[in-house]
Amino acid sequence: MHGLNIKTHNEPQLTSMNESQKPGRKKLFIKTFGCQMNVYDSARMADALDGEGYVPAATPEGADLVILNTCHIREKAAEKVFSELGRLRALKEARAKDSARMLIGVAGCVAQAQGEHIMQRAPVVDLLFGPQAYHLLPELEKRARRGERVIEMNFPAQDKFNQLPDINIAAKNPPVTAFLAIQEGCDKFCTFCVVPYTRGAEYSRPVARIIDEARKLAAKGAREITLLGQNVNAWHGEGEGGTWGLGRLLHALGEIEGLERLRYTTSHPRDMDDELLEAHKNLPQLMPYLHLPVQSGSDRILKAMNRRHTAAEYLRIIDKIRKYRPDIAMASDFIVGFPGETDADFADTLKLVREVNYAQAYSFKYSERPGTPAAEREDQVPEELRTARLAELQDVLNSQQGAFNAARIGKTMDILFDRPGRQDGQIAGRSPYMQAVHVQGPSELMGGFASVTISSAGVKSLGGELVSKAEGARA
Ligand code: 5AD
Ligand code: SF4
Repeated sequence: MHGLNIKTHNEPQLTSMNESQKPGRKKLFIKTFGCQMNVYDSARMADALDGEGYVPAATPEGADLVILNTCHIREKAAEKVFSELGRLRALKEARAKDSARMLIGVAGCVAQAQGEHIMQRAPVVDLLFGPQAYHLLPELEKRARRGERVIEMNFPAQDKFNQLPDINIAAKNPPVTAFLAIQEGCDKFCTFCVVPYTRGAEYSRPVARIIDEARKLAAKGAREITLLGQNVNAWHGEGEGGTWGLGRLLHALGEIEGLERLRYTTSHPRDMDDELLEAHKNLPQLMPYLHLPVQSGSDRILKAMNRRHTAAEYLRIIDKIRKYRPDIAMASDFIVGFPGETDADFADTLKLVREVNYAQAYSFKYSERPGTPAAEREDQVPEELRTARLAELQDVLNSQQGAFNAARIGKTMDILFDRPGRQDGQIAGRSPYMQAVHVQGPSELMGGFASVTISSAGVKSLGGELVSKAEGARA
C-alpha cells in the first residue's frame, strides 16, 4: 500500500452522507481516519447496515450507532482512538439520560492490532471488529444491542468482499468520482509497515465482480473511478484467456460507457509490469498521474526496508513510463529517519527526488510500529534529526510541486467538478494530473467536465476560468 494516497492520513474524514429525516430510522455516524481504503470501507459498512434500518447522520450527537474507522499506519493511532472515545462517552451518557442507547463501535486497523487492549481500557466500546469482518456487521450490531460486548477480528478478506451487499451507497448519493476496492492486504512485509499484520494477506477480487461494480457505479453517474488496493498493482484475477493483471483490467474498464477517467492507487515498484506501463500510453481514460512510493533513495535503506528494489530500478520504471506518457505527474511517499539512516543515505533520497522531479508527494518521519521488525532495531534515529530531515525534504518537494503547478498557468484542461469550492460561488474539481482546481462557476457544473484555463497556481491548488462546457472530454 503504502497508504493509498496519504493526503487523507492525518485528518479524520466524515463519510459523505445525507442525513435522512425519516422518523423511526436509526442513525449511524461513522468517523473515518486514514486512507482511501478506509473511506471505501466506511461506505460499505453504511451499505451493510442499511438493511438494518440505519440511515447516515452528519454528527455523532443523537446517533444510535457511532463507528470509529481507525488507522494504524503511523504514531499516536491508539491515543487518538482513546481521546475520541472519551468524547463519545459524554455523548453516550447524554443519550442514556434520554433513555436512548448509543452503541459505540471501533473498526479498522487499530481495532485489528489492539482489539483486546481497547476493549479492556475502554468499557464504553460495545463492539470492536477488524477490517475483514465488515460483512458481519448486521449480526454484530444485533448482538451488541442485546447487551453483549462483541469482538470480532479474524476473517479472510475473501469472505468480506463476497458477502458484502452490492454497492448501493451510490444510489443514495451518486458520487461522480468513486472508489472501487479491487485488492486488499499485502504480502510484501516492508520492515516498517503494519499493513501486512492489520490487513492480512494479499487478496484480489475476481474480474467479474469488479466489472459489475464499475458498471453499477457508472450507471449511477460516476465519471471517474479510482481502483483501490494496499498493493493495487499486485492485483491479478482469472478472466477471459487466463490470468489478468491490472493493465488488462484497466482496458476492460475503459470500455464501460460513461467512465471517462480511471486511476489506481497505491502501487509497489516491483509490480509495475509492462502491460500496466503500456496502458499509460494506449488507454486514454487512464489519467496521467502515478503514485509510486519509493520511501528512500538509498539502496542501503531500501534493502533494510525490505523494499526489494534499488533506486536505479525505480528510476528505470519512471524513465519507461515517461517514454509512454511524457507529461505524467509522478507522486511518491517518503520516510525519513528510518533506523540507521545516515546523512549520506538521506542525501541519496534528496538526489533521487531531484532526479524524478515530483508533482506531488507525501513524506513522513519514521514511526516505530509495534510488532514490525524495524521497531526492534537499536539504531533508531533521534527525533530532532527526523524532524530536521523531514523539513529539508519537504522544502524540496513543495518547491517541485509548486513548479509543476505553476507550469500549468495559461494552459487549458478538462476539469471534473465534484464539490463546492472554498468561497461562495466557487466550484472545485480535479485536473487529469490530480491537481485541485477552483473556479467561479455555477453549481450545476458539479458532476461533469468543463474546460478551464488556469490562471493561478499555489503549492496545493490551481485557480482558473471556465472556457466552455466540454461534456465527455478527457485529458
Ligand atoms: N513510519 C512512517 N511512515 C510510514 N508509512 C508506513 N509505515 C510507516 C511508518 N512506520 C508511510 C509510508 C507508506 C505510507 C502509507 O505511510 O510512506 O507508503
Ligand atoms: Fe506498502 Fe510495504 Fe506496507 Fe505492503 S508492507 S502496504 S508494500 S509499505
